[in-house]
Amino acid sequence: MSTLPTRRLGPAGPAVSALGLGCMGMSFAYGAADETESLATLERALELGVGFLDTADIYGPHANEELLGRFLQGRRERVFLATKFGFVPDPVDPNLRTLSGRPEYVRSAVEGSLKRLRTDRIDLYYQHRVDPTVPIEDTVGAMAELVAQGKVRYLGLSEPSAQTLERAQAVHPIAAVQSEYSLWTRDPERNGVLEACARLGIGFVPYSPLGRGFLTGAITDAGALARDDFRLSTPRFQGENFDRNLALARQVQALAAAKGCTPAQLALAWVLAQGEHIVPIPGTKRRKYLEDNVGAVNVSLSPAELAQLDAWFRPEAIAGARYTEAGMALIGR
Ligand SMILES: NC(=O)c1ccc[n+]([C@@H]2O[C@H](COP(=O)([O-])OP(=O)(O)OC[C@H]3O[C@@H](n4cnc5c(N)ncnc54)[C@H](OP(=O)(O)O)[C@@H]3O)[C@@H](O)[C@H]2O)c1
Repeated sequence: MSTLPTRRLGPAGPAVSALGLGCMGMSFAYGAADETESLATLERALELGVGFLDTADIYGPHANEELLGRFLQGRRERVFLATKFGFVPDPVDPNLRTLSGRPEYVRSAVEGSLKRLRTDRIDLYYQHRVDPTVPIEDTVGAMAELVAQGKVRYLGLSEPSAQTLERAQAVHPIAAVQSEYSLWTRDPERNGVLEACARLGIGFVPYSPLGRGFLTGAITDAGALARDDFRLSTPRFQGENFDRNLALARQVQALAAAKGCTPAQLALAWVLAQGEHIVPIPGTKRRKYLEDNVGAVNVSLSPAELAQLDAWFRPEAIAGARYTEAGMALIGR
C-alpha cells in the first residue's frame, strides 16, 4: 500500500515520498526508546508509503544504523536509504566527537555504514557537517568515487553554506541539502541555501521540521524531558526562552484547531508549502505520531494563514539559538 505522494529531490533527482521518516530518536538524543515500537513504526512507515528513511553513523553512535540494518532485511527494495558521515566518535568517550572530511576517512566511513545497514548501497550519502580543514572538492571527490564504485547512488551535504554547495556541485551533482528548517528555524531562507538549491536543481530536506517536537505543543515542561535529552542543551529549550517560546507553540495549536488539523500537521504543511523541491523528514519513534504526520500532505494553507504564521514567527519572537555556540560554529561553512 502506497498512499503518500512523491516529490523529486531536484528536477533531475530521485523521486521519494513527500515526507521522510527521521529515525534518530529511535536510538539517540531524545530519551529512551522502545525497540519494538521503533520497528513497528518503521514497518508502518512502509505501509503508509513513507519509504525515505534518514539516519547517520553518529546516531548512537552506530546503534541507529544497526537498528535500520535489522529492519531492512527483506525490505531493502522498498526503502530510499539516507545516512551521513563526518562526526568521528571518540573511541573512549562516546559523548566526545571530532569532524573529518578527509578522503581516506570518507572511504572508511562508508564501509562501516554499509556493514551496519547490512546493504551493498546507500541511496543518499550526506556529509554531516563541512570540515573546514579539508577543501570541499577533496571530500566530494572521495564521495564521487563511491558513486562510481556503486556503493552510493546520490550525494548530499548537511548544513553547508551556499558557497560551499556551489563548489561541491562543480565536482559532482549534489542531490540534496539537509539543514534545519521549520517555522522557528528560518536560516535557509536567509543564508541563500534554499535559493541555491532551487537554482541548482538540488532537493532540500528540512530536518527537525517540528522544531524537535516543540511546535507540536506536546512539550510543555522542559523538566519532563529525560535528563540527558539533547534538547535541554540547546538555548531554545532553556529557562525563560522555553517559557517565551511556549506562546508560539500555543499559536500553532490554536490555528490548527481552527483548521481542524493537528499542530504537527500544520507545522509540516507549512514546510511542504515552501517549495516542491522540499521533502521534510519529521522524526518519531511511535506509530501514532507517524500516522499524525503523514496527514500533513492533505493540509493546505491559504495565503492569509501563511502570512499569519510568518507574523507570529518573526525572528525576534523566537527566544534562544537552535544550538549552543559550539554547535552553531559547525553550521554554514
Ligand atoms: N543533519 C542534521 O544535523 C540533523 C540534525 C537533527 C536531526 N536530523 C534528522 O532529522 C530527523 C528529524 O528531526 P528531529 O527528530 O530532530 O526533530 P522533529 O522531526 O522536528 O521532531 C521530533 C520530535 O517530535 C516528536 N513528534 C513527532 N511527531 C509528533 C507528533 N505528531 N505529535 C507530537 N510530537 C511529535 C517526536 O517524539 P517521539 O520521539 O516521542 O516520537 C520527537 O521528539 C531526525 O530524526 C534525524 O534523522 C538531522
